[in-house]
Amino acid sequence: MYNVRKVTEDLYWVGANDRRLHLFENIHPIPQGVSYNAYVLLDDKTVLFDTVDWACGRQFFDNVSHVLGDRDLDYIVVNHVEPDHAATLGEILLRYPNAKIICTAKAKTFLEQFGFDIDGKVETVKGGDTKSFGKHNVAFVLAPMVHWPEVMMTFDTTDGVLFSADAFGSFKSLDGKLFADEVDYDRDWLDEARRYYTNIVGKYGKNVQAVLKKAAGLDIKIICPLHGLVWRKDIGYFIDKYQHWAGYEAEEQGVLIAYASMYGNTEEVADTLANELAKRGVTNLAVYDVSKTDKSYIISDAFKYSHIVFASVTYNLNIYPTMHDLINDMQGLAVQNKTCAIIENGTWAIKAGSLIEDELAKMKDMRLLTDKVTVKSAPNVDSHAALEALADAIAKDIHA
Ligand code: FEO
Repeated sequence: MYNVRKVTEDLYWVGANDRRLHLFENIHPIPQGVSYNAYVLLDDKTVLFDTVDWACGRQFFDNVSHVLGDRDLDYIVVNHVEPDHAATLGEILLRYPNAKIICTAKAKTFLEQFGFDIDGKVETVKGGDTKSFGKHNVAFVLAPMVHWPEVMMTFDTTDGVLFSADAFGSFKSLDGKLFADEVDYDRDWLDEARRYYTNIVGKYGKNVQAVLKKAAGLDIKIICPLHGLVWRKDIGYFIDKYQHWAGYEAEEQGVLIAYASMYGNTEEVADTLANELAKRGVTNLAVYDVSKTDKSYIISDAFKYSHIVFASVTYNLNIYPTMHDLINDMQGLAVQNKTCAIIENGTWAIKAGSLIEDELAKMKDMRLLTDKVTVKSAPNVDSHAALEALADAIAKDIHA
């Protein structure tokens, strides 16, 4: 059975949803699923833009077959080779053996490395190259490292449709609603879009900024990403989010408190700080136990908020492992340009705070707002005073 939607008069979404997968890239939880988007253009030539993950193969093949009807497939544009978009390419080539692949030279190399039998089937293109499929003319826009080096985007200059590959994608299944204007985006999608961007593409902000610069010169009317919703209204809203994320600029003035606690004492400290902040009018804040909450959510909020407080117990003369892991991930994803504070705890040889300072010093523009707060074993009256002083400093900084 088919399950497709029209995007424009000639363009169809032929993707599928995956709600069974627990971990995207076998690492990031996706409790709300994910969609793999692919598109078919019917013109003088027929064109398939990317394929889907194997998990959705059956639905995808039915969709492509339905949209093509009795027509053959002439072209497959491979914007991105990662297997969540290219895994079913081999089967498509078996079903449509006359189809030619259009991709970058690097994509061709990657397709060969993944074992696809594409000999004699590939037309490689470079950035700025154009092609006509009949009524529709397209231009190819290189987008290296958004999110792999072979990535390109394809811009249909006839209808203003940008096939944006991973850019402008999101976690979360579509549930029938293909277009961003069909959902309450801020309520239901923004957090998952941010979590997707920051964890998947976050490291490559400079590359994303370069592509946004190229995109600014295009008259984009519709964005068709490889995951998540298609944008046909308020495109500027989402591009603005990308400007913030790619530029490592906080979306909001607010505080992320990430704590690592073994017996609840550091947790009490984090909770008390949150309480003191709220009393001072700083209510845009989030508190996470780094041993409990998957770090992809904390990374997402690290990009979102202007201030980050790290509160960690000392463990084996080191930063607590789950906190260490979070900071390591932040470094890998180039988290930067944050105002930070550190709270450390321990019963003897308290080391976590100075070691976190060392880690933040390796990152770009991670500014310490105050001296670290030290708690010995359990918070006491002095600790409370120190947390009130820290809350004063953060509130003053945010309200400024
Ligand atoms: Fe959705 Fe980089 O693949």
